Amino acid sequence: MKTQVICFANNKGGSGKSTTCANVGYGLTQLGKKVLLIDGDMQLNLSLSFFTDDEVLEYAQGTDNLYHAIRNQKDLKNYIIHTPYENLDMIPSSTLMSSIEYELFTKWQREFILKKCLSSIIESEAYDYILIDAPPTLGGWVMNILCASDKVIIPVEATPWGLFGLGNMFEFLEQVKQMSPDLEVMGTVVTKVDTRKNYFKQTFESLRDLEDIHVFETYIRVDSSVEWSQDNNMPIMAYRRSSRSAQEYMALTEEIVNRK
Ligand SMILES: Nc1ncnc2c1ncn2[C@@H]1O[C@H](COP(=O)(O)OP(=O)(O)O)[C@@H](O)[C@H]1O
Ligand SMILES: [Mg+2]
Repeated sequence: MKTQVICFANNKGGSGKSTTCANVGYGLTQLGKKVLLIDGDMQLNLSLSFFTDDEVLEYAQGTDNLYHAIRNQKDLKNYIIHTPYENLDMIPSSTLMSSIEYELFTKWQREFILKKCLSSIIESEAYDYILIDAPPTLGGWVMNILCASDKVIIPVEATPWGLFGLGNMFEFLEQVKQMSPDLEVMGTVVTKVDTRKNYFKQTFESLRDLEDIHVFETYIRVDSSVEWSQDNNMPIMAYRRSSRSAQEYMALTEEIVNRK
C-alpha cells in the first residue's frame, strides 16, 4: 500500500492535535499498520507521548532531530527512532523548531523542504501511515507540513473559543491548495467534549454548517485518564485499554482508515 501522509493541524493551541496524533498513531498499529510519527512542534508534546522527559530533552537538545534535518535538508530516514511500541517509529522534535521559519526563509522552494526530506521514506513504502503533528501557527513551517501531506485532520475543541479562528485555518488551506492541489481536508474531529454541559452540541452544529467539510462521527470526551497516560508518557490504549477514551480513539482510528 502507498504510504499515506496525514497531518493534524489547527492554529488554535489546546485543540487536541498532539493527543489525537499520538493516539491515532498507536491505534493504527493495533490495526496492523506500520506508522511513522513526526513531531513538528517545539513543544515536543508528541515526543512526550512516547518518551520520558529526559529522553525527549536529549533528542531535542542534540542534532538527531527534525530541526537539524530540515535546516540542512537531510534525508529524514536517518533521523528515525523506535518508540517502545512495535511498528511505531518517530522523528523527534527540537526546542529550536521555534526558529525554523527563519531557516526556511532563504531556501529554494521553501514550502517543499519537508516533502523533499520525506521523499525517500515514502518511496521505500516502509510505512502505511506517516502522521505529522503541527504547531498552533499558520506560517511557512505549517505550510511545509501541509504541502508534505496527502490529508489534513483538524481537531476542534468543543468550547466557545474552539471555533474562533477556524476561518483563518480554512483560508490558509486555500492558499496551500494553490501550491499543493491534491491536499485533502479529511475532516474535523471534535475533542475534549464535556457531555455534562450542552455546549458541545453547538460545536457540532457549527461544524456541520460548513459546506464540504466532513465531521467525524466519533468525538473524544474529556477524560482524566488521557492526562494520566500523558503523565506516564504512554498512549491511552497502552496505559488503560479499557478506558472510555481508549475506545473512542480506537473508533476514530477505524473511521480514519475506512474513510476514502
Ligand atoms: N480527551 C481529553 N481529555 C482530557 N484532557 C485532554 C483530552 N485531550 C487533550 N487533553 C488535554 O488538553 C490539552 C491540549 O491537548 P493537546 O493535544 O496538547 O492540544 P494541541 O496539540 O492542539 O495544543 C493537553 O493538556 C491535554 O492533556
Ligand atoms: Mg500540540
